[in-house]
This record gives sequence, C-alpha cells and structure tokens, in this order.
Amino acid sequence: MNKKIDELIKNKGRENITGLTAYDYPTAKLVEEAGIDFILVGDSLGVVVLGYENPLSVDMAVMLHHSRAVCRGAKNIPIIGDMPVNSYRNPNIALKNAQDFMDTGVDGVKIEGMNIEIVKKLVKNDIPVMGHLGLTPQTIEEYSVQGRDAENSKRILREAQALAKAGVFSIVLECISEGLGDKITRSIDIPTIGIGAGRYTDGQILVINDLLGLFDRYSPKFVKQYIDLRSEIRSAIIDYKVDVKKGKFPGKENIFK
Ligand code: KIV
Repeated sequence: MNKKIDELIKNKGRENITGLTAYDYPTAKLVEEAGIDFILVGDSLGVVVLGYENPLSVDMAVMLHHSRAVCRGAKNIPIIGDMPVNSYRNPNIALKNAQDFMDTGVDGVKIEGMNIEIVKKLVKNDIPVMGHLGLTPQTIEEYSVQGRDAENSKRILREAQALAKAGVFSIVLECISEGLGDKITRSIDIPTIGIGAGRYTDGQILVINDLLGLFDRYSPKFVKQYIDLRSEIRSAIIDYKVDVKKGKFPGKENIFK
C-alpha cells in the first residue's frame, strides 16, 4: 500500500482526520500549507467550479486535467481522485480509468456506492480505493438525509462492512444521521470520513468552495462557511475598476521608464 495512505489509515482512533477538496494548483498548495491531512479532487468540480447543475457532466478528461494541477500543487499529502460517473461501468473500464488517474500523481481513487467487484479488481492491482456511501451524488434521486429508517440504516451499515472487507482503505459517509455515522465508524477498522455524518466519524471533509464562501447556489446544513471570499473578491475587483476609471492605476510604481 502507498505510504501516504498508510499514514492516513493510522490516524483512525488517534486524531480527527481533515480532508478538503481541491481542483487547481494554488488551492492544493494552500491546503497542503495549512496542514490538511488529504485532498480529494472531487467531481463536485463540475458544480462548484464549472457551473453545471450536478456532477454528471464531468468526465475522465476533465478530472485528469484538474488532477494534474492539484498534484503539481500538493506534493506531500495524499491526494484522492474521484472517479466520475460512467468511468467505472465494469471492472476493466474502472481499472483503465483508475490507472489513468494514478498516472496524474494521485495516491488513490474514490468510487461511489456498492461496487464490490470493482473495488476488488482495483485493490488487486495495487490501486488504493476510498468508498463513498450514504448520499451519493452520482446516483441520488432526492437530496435528503440517507438511512433514516431502520431498514436503510442497516443496509448502509452492511454496505460499509462489505466495502471494508473488499479492501477499501477508507469510506466517505455523506449526509446520514450522527448515530449511523458513529455506528459505522465503530464497526469497521478503516477510517470513516464524514460530510454531514455527525461528530463521531474518524474525519471530516468539506468542499473547499463551500468553506471559503465561493459557492452561492445553495448551502447544505452540514457546511460551515469560514470566510465570505465572494464578497472579498468582488470588492477587490470593484477597487480595481474604480482605480482604472479614475486614472489611479497604473500608478508611478507600476510603469516602466
Ligand atoms: O465530489 C466531492 O467533492 C465529494 C465530496 C463531497 C466527498 O465526493
């Protein structure tokens, strides 16, 4: 197994794991500088950066393009590439696409849902796989908390156990009750990474554009916005516009004699 991934796994039960998405070079560099434990090049890219309605418009070519930029920005922490919809239709297609992802410099790939045969195939070929259960944006019909009733809650728990057995090194749990997040976390020996899964998962991940206040279309309850960067950026752009209109920019210090 990859050394950086090994380090991440060891944190289960020791300290809360921190994850963030990143989609480009400068952001990846900042995330690493801030000491975050791992980066996910998420297919949320399609929504928060490229402006699509959902992540379904993102394909491998787009993911690989952004993954290369992220890998140039963060050299020392694990980077996970999110396999986009249709990129893991069967084990062979999944292996080819996962290998292409690994060639960009990522340390592992993430796959949504219950794809046991695919996970086994990738793991057998030395590709670390992160699972993703609960709300899975590539197949979701309705955006709501998953596993609320006893039957679905048991199903998600069983799925997590089956994925762990199949060899995933970690599982993202999205939009489930805190109780279920806790139960799953205690029932498997690999790290769980929550996004809207309560306080008792082994780690947390957020979409970085949500944390920075750069995405304004909607904001789920589980998001915490730490800064309003849209306002900051807008006001800097306005300052520039005003300076140019008034002839204040370029100033003496910006010109060549
Ligand atoms: O695409 C993404 O950003 C994700 C996270 C929400 C976990 O899958």
